[in-house]
Amino acid sequence: MINQSIVGWAHSPFGKLVDDDLESLIARVARDAIVDAGIESDEIDSVFVGTFNSGFSRQDFPSSLVLQSVPELRFKPATRCENACASGSAALYAARHRLAAYGERFALVIGAEKMTDSTSAQAGEHLLGASYRREESGIAGGFAGVFGQIARSYFQRYGDHSDALACIAAKNHRNGMDNPYAHLHKDFGFAFCREESEKNPFVAPPLKRTDCSPVSDGAAALVLRNDDLGGRLRRSVRLLACSQVNDLLPMSQRDMTRFEAGERAWAAAFEAAGITLQDLSFVETHDCFTIAELIEYETMGLAAPGQGWRAAVEGWTARDGRLPVNRSGGLKSKGHPVGATGVSMHVMAAMQISGEAGALQLPDAELGAVYNMGGSAVANYVTLLGRGDG
Ligand code: COA
Repeated sequence: MINQSIVGWAHSPFGKLVDDDLESLIARVARDAIVDAGIESDEIDSVFVGTFNSGFSRQDFPSSLVLQSVPELRFKPATRCENACASGSAALYAARHRLAAYGERFALVIGAEKMTDSTSAQAGEHLLGASYRREESGIAGGFAGVFGQIARSYFQRYGDHSDALACIAAKNHRNGMDNPYAHLHKDFGFAFCREESEKNPFVAPPLKRTDCSPVSDGAAALVLRNDDLGGRLRRSVRLLACSQVNDLLPMSQRDMTRFEAGERAWAAAFEAAGITLQDLSFVETHDCFTIAELIEYETMGLAAPGQGWRAAVEGWTARDGRLPVNRSGGLKSKGHPVGATGVSMHVMAAMQISGEAGALQLPDAELGAVYNMGGSAVANYVTLLGRGDG
């Protein structure tokens, strides 16, 4: 494994940002991440941008928009990466490869998405671009429909775990209250999340509104450094392992009660870093829907298949539990501007490890993990992070 660290970052608020478009979202974070790293803009060797788009923005081809907001980057290579909801991690991993392959020192990685210009129906249709159109286009309710189907299969096999889903929703909403960047600052509580109501209707049964991440605008950025080229900065967060595993796109060809490629990504990351789940201080995991977080407890090895409910109901993953999961509020509360999410998750983890998470700070946050996935567990990225030495 090559030695690389996250050395700077920036994060916009997530939410319905009416005055922003894709270009201004990128501008909100691009220069700030470089300044935060304590380097000059012209020290950046390459730029990678994660966006999904799929119809959300009329402005496609966003890579060079970064050059407009940071003119010193003109004539540097800039590339857009797309891997559905994991586009941000795809950008980070592409940056890693470039630093290693070309012996370059710094890369700027940005994730951004403008979603709220679309109506609900349009957003659902754009998001289904990450499904297997030939078989899954007809699923009602957009991607909530996809995960509603996954939840029904899981419940059919393991019993109704609506209580666990409501625990996850309540936990992540509570956590998000402390996150200044979060889209939804609403401490709904278990009872509200558990019951169907006028304010919490079914979206794709058994999933209710509180089981879904919101449709959000936002951007996040980070600066990645090749540590082997020397030069200390005021802080660094080391990438200990980075693992990507893709699965087949059609759900019909997979057992959707398991995220099998995700399991492989976790196992490969642990093996590469020589650590286990027990060594981790926290996890930021991809809770696009609460059923995803439930299955991911099993994917990462926290619970046996069908037993993920215990981690939720018994509080293992609460902020004071044995493995805090989504202390940031997760996608559920922080919001899910699709292309921004993977970068945001890495920024949240880096803040924890460097002790700069403010009200979100966990005690002794030394080793953390990010699990970001694209589509229905099709593109799976697991990053393990630890303290660097500046
Ligand atoms: N969770 C909790 N509350 C939510 C919410 C969510 N996901 N989305 C919206 N709300 C709240 C709003 O803040 C608003 O509250 P208010 O009445 O107090 O102001 C209220 O619900 C109505 O908001 P609205 O935007 O009209 O909701 P909606 O019914 O149009 O949209 C969803 C709700 C769940 C359908 C929408 O957020 C959605 O489609 N989410 C999934 C996005 C997705 O698929 N992402 C990709 C994942 S892979």
